[in-house]
Amino acid sequence: MKRILITGGNGLLGQTITRLLMQETKYSILVTSIEDQSVFTNHTIHYRRLDVTDRRDVRESIQEYKPDVIVNTAAYTHVDDCEDDREKAQLYNVKSVEYLAEAARITDARIVHLSTDYVFDGEKAPLNESAPPSPLNYYGRTKLASENVLRGAGIRHAIVRTMILYGCGIDVKPNFALWVLYNLSSGKKINVVVDQYGQPTFVDDLGYGLIKIIELERTGLYHISGSEVTSRYDFAVAVAETFKLKKDLIQPISSEEFHQVAPRPRYSEFMIQKAQMELGIRMSNVREGLSVLRKQLEYRKYEEL
Ligand SMILES: NC(=O)c1ccc[n+]([C@@H]2O[C@H](COP(=O)([O-])OP(=O)(O)OC[C@H]3O[C@@H](n4cnc5c(N)ncnc54)[C@H](OP(=O)(O)O)[C@@H]3O)[C@@H](O)[C@H]2O)c1
Repeated sequence: MKRILITGGNGLLGQTITRLLMQETKYSILVTSIEDQSVFTNHTIHYRRLDVTDRRDVRESIQEYKPDVIVNTAAYTHVDDCEDDREKAQLYNVKSVEYLAEAARITDARIVHLSTDYVFDGEKAPLNESAPPSPLNYYGRTKLASENVLRGAGIRHAIVRTMILYGCGIDVKPNFALWVLYNLSSGKKINVVVDQYGQPTFVDDLGYGLIKIIELERTGLYHISGSEVTSRYDFAVAVAETFKLKKDLIQPISSEEFHQVAPRPRYSEFMIQKAQMELGIRMSNVREGLSVLRKQLEYRKYEEL
């Protein structure tokens, strides 16, 4: 039975991979995150508090559990805050990976690590795995540095770059699709940029990709994103249409008018052929992903009744 340790297990991707792995009996899972408790109330889940910036705790957790694979989803993911609090961004996104790598080297664990399209500047597209990175913001710089930590660590690892994750989970920070949904459902107007393009990624699709990496024992770099490029504005409109909400509440604005603290790439497009072919996965387009999300949210509402 493969032993898998998940970091950041209360986050969107951490919860998703936990939920997907639990459907199989061939894995033993230890879910960890910075909070005292797991968001899952299911008592069969083994949970341990683990702050990945605590070197000793990282070492002890990994030496005690002896995972075959560590899936590292923990990160300081507030892109604008990373610009202002660079020390924290460095500690959470880079040092933590050094600690994980150090412990993995001792126990001979593999690491599957998450990175981002923000390692690129958005000037060239589409981007395959050998495109040269050039991050525009500090978050992107820390994620690129984390990749380099693993490349130099002498351990078996896979790095997965992804972008614009959306999906549902328990008490997750509202991702873009949920933010649009919550605002439009309560009749609020929202401003959405028309000139930032990317490939929204349905988190379950990414989760399946990560499981394939684990199963097939793949190493190296993978670009895994949704299959369709769209602007944030068009994505918001697709959310409105899928959930039958008023799309005239969505106000188109430009990046200049929006004033984000951290600069973002204007155009991100990954070539995902390598991931789709080597892992045997198929990534959804926007409408496909959103319609599964709608079903998941309906099911949750039904469960809560
Ligand atoms: N979301 C995206 O669009 C996107 C795009 C590209 C790449 N990624 C990458 O994908 C990964 C997963 O993203 P996500 O959307 O699932 O993020 P998320 O929802 O913010 O999940 C990250 C989790 O890590 C936890 N965490 C933060 N600091 C920690 C620490 N020191 N020790 C242990 N846990 C800690 C967070 O807890 P708190 O919530 O309490 O801080 C959160 O539960 C990250 O590596 C991210 O950089 C995400």
